[in-house]
Amino acid sequence: MKITKAVIPAAGLGTRFLPVTKSMPKEMLPIIDTPAIHYVVNEAVAAGLDDILIITGRGKRAVEDYFDASPELEMYLKKHHKEDMITLLKETTSLSDVHYIRQKEPKGLPDAIRTAERHVGNEPFAVLLGDDIIHAETPCMKQLIDVSTHFNGSVIAVQDVPREKINRYGSVVATKTPGPFPNDVYKIDHIIEKPKPEEAPSTLAAIGRYVFTPEIFDSIKHTTPGVNNELQIADSINILTQTQSVYAYAFSGRRYDIGDKLGYIQAIIDFALHNDEVKEDVARYLQTLR
Ligand code: UTP
Repeated sequence: MKITKAVIPAAGLGTRFLPVTKSMPKEMLPIIDTPAIHYVVNEAVAAGLDDILIITGRGKRAVEDYFDASPELEMYLKKHHKEDMITLLKETTSLSDVHYIRQKEPKGLPDAIRTAERHVGNEPFAVLLGDDIIHAETPCMKQLIDVSTHFNGSVIAVQDVPREKINRYGSVVATKTPGPFPNDVYKIDHIIEKPKPEEAPSTLAAIGRYVFTPEIFDSIKHTTPGVNNELQIADSINILTQTQSVYAYAFSGRRYDIGDKLGYIQAIIDFALHNDEVKEDVARYLQTLR
């Protein structure tokens, strides 16, 4: 079945980014002049998904406003002959069909995904975390959709991380499985969420991109609080593996965790060094810091 729906959970509290997230969603943190979530929606659209559902919550109005039309601003820009800016603004409203649903309380990622059940229905769907940006030649989500279509099952994106960092991720225990793809595909046995580095069964880390079969909703309903007493999507995936094969794909691309301070700073520097308007000045400036 063709995958057309993307779910973008963006209802978390962003406590690692306090105090700014007290009054601003972390998904709206700008990478130069564009909020993180814009890149996430772009990736979904570039992967061929034309029905986008953003999961929001209290204090996330800015996300909805961002993808909405802004007639007053457009009128002002027209009056001041700033047509190029109007084109830029129109891009944010014409990206795709964007819908919103609110997660009543931030009870964890599985609960955020569960709120999408009615919208998604009985089809496979994509999940892109609103605070993960992935720079890739072929959109990461497109890579996952290709793998999912081939195996007719759920697929999660994984990357190998240094052992000392695996405690921030789900450590994926999986066996390589053959497939006509440029990178490694694995069949997942189970995932251990945020293990101590010395106890992690693998350094294959689950990151914020997934294609799920609709059976994930049942698995979520059977998920109980796990690490940090929070609902963990790794536990829902472990339940799903008991009834169907779930795959992992070592995608090509560079991932930035915008919800983490260092990840955010790295994204800004890398994007600035690729931005035609500022790249030369930024490179020159960075040289002076040596
Ligand atoms: P994180 O765990 O990174 O986000 O969730 P958080 O809880 O907002 O951040 P910290 O750890 O307190 O700083 C990953 C993604 O899942 C969404 C978040 O918005 C983020 O995009 N999420 C998380 C929800 O939508 N609802 C939740 O209840 C939790």
